[in-house]
Formats: sequence, C-alpha cells, structure tokens
Amino acid sequence: MVKLVAFDAYGTLFDVYSMGQLAEHLFPSHGQALALMWRDRQIEYTRLVTMSDPDAGGSRHYLPFWELTVRSLRYCCKRLGLAPGAGDEQRLMDQYAKLTGFPDSLDVLRSIKNKGLSTAILSNGSREMLSTVVNANGLTPYLDQVVSVEDVRLFKTAPQAYALLLSAFPVAKQEILFVSSNAWDALAAKWFGFQVFWVNRLGHPFEEIGERPDYEGKSLSDVLAVL
Ligand code: LAC
Repeated sequence: MVKLVAFDAYGTLFDVYSMGQLAEHLFPSHGQALALMWRDRQIEYTRLVTMSDPDAGGSRHYLPFWELTVRSLRYCCKRLGLAPGAGDEQRLMDQYAKLTGFPDSLDVLRSIKNKGLSTAILSNGSREMLSTVVNANGLTPYLDQVVSVEDVRLFKTAPQAYALLLSAFPVAKQEILFVSSNAWDALAAKWFGFQVFWVNRLGHPFEEIGERPDYEGKSLSDVLAVL
C-alpha cells in the first residue's frame, strides 16, 4: 500500500533537456551536445563529492547542486571549445532556475493529493533552487514537502539521501512510491527499499545492474494507474 508518492525533480517533474534549445540558440550546432554533456557532468560531480567523503555528517567536498551545475556548465563549455559571451552563463542559469515542468506535472500531483495520499519531492537540488522552480511551475499547493539533500550534504545515490523521506514522513520504506525518470535514481531507490516507478519517456533500456523498478511508464500520468 502506498502512502507517499515522492518525485525526483530534475528530468522527472522539470524538463532539463529543454535547456538544449537555449544552448542551441547561444551555440549553434552545439546545443544538444552541450545539454547532454552538462547533465552528465553535473551528476558526475555529485557522485565525486559524495563518494570521496561519504561521512555521516556530510561530505567535506559538498557544494550545493546549483554551484555544481554552474561548474559543470563551465567545464563543458571548455571541453567543447565554446566561448560563452558576456551574460551567456547567466542566461542559461536563469533558465535553469525556472525550468518548465512537463505538461502533466501539475495535474498528476493534484490527482494524487485528491486520492488522499502525501506528495513530496526528493532532490539533489539545493533548497533555494527547488523552491524557485516549484513556485515558478505553480506546484507548491500540491506538494506536502520539498526535501533537499542539502540536509545531509550527500547526494543521491547515498542511502542517507533517500532516508531523508523517512525522517520527513511517518511512513515505512515500502509505503513510499518513488518516481524518477533517471534510471540510476530508480535503481538506487529500489536498492534502498522503496517501491519504484520509472518514467521512461525516451524508451531507453533499463540499467544492466540492479533490480528492475516495480513499475514503468512513458509519462508521469502513467503513475496514476498504479495508485
Ligand atoms: C534530482 C536530479 C538528480 O532532482 O534529477 O535529484
């Protein structure tokens, strides 16, 4: 039985790959490559920070996700030989701050609330950036809590990050349905002990390690069918 539906933020509720359009406008014919490399490098940095000091009190290498996002953008521009003009970084980050939600994000959250279940975000995002993007998309009324890994200063996939949901809500692991479009996140959440729904919009294969998620769908709306 599910009592809490918890969503990953970036890529799951909010469309990170929409950054490709602005990137393409700023760096013609490199936009897609930049957007993809940027996302990978950003996650790579979260893993480096976490694995290099997986201390219960947090990693001493911790930097907020916003900062890792800026640093990974700078790295990728250098790596791709792009020379951002004055204000380009600011434009990209301004758009990142207010990423558009997927078209069904709001309706899905509202429907889950209407069923009487609790809703949350559990994200690597820093508190401030999460609050900005959640408000920009009008999701605040439909979320009971927005949980940031900033509280443990370790990023997903550290178990301490997933465990934040257990301190935030009076529920057992098995009563949480965790929804992510990131296969690595879905895999680690399943290892942690949540029920997991993988939103596989692009029809990708699942990872070749770990257990498969309990559920899979092509859109967020498909989550409603399993509740
Ligand atoms: C998040 C990223 C990892 O929101 O998608 O946690």
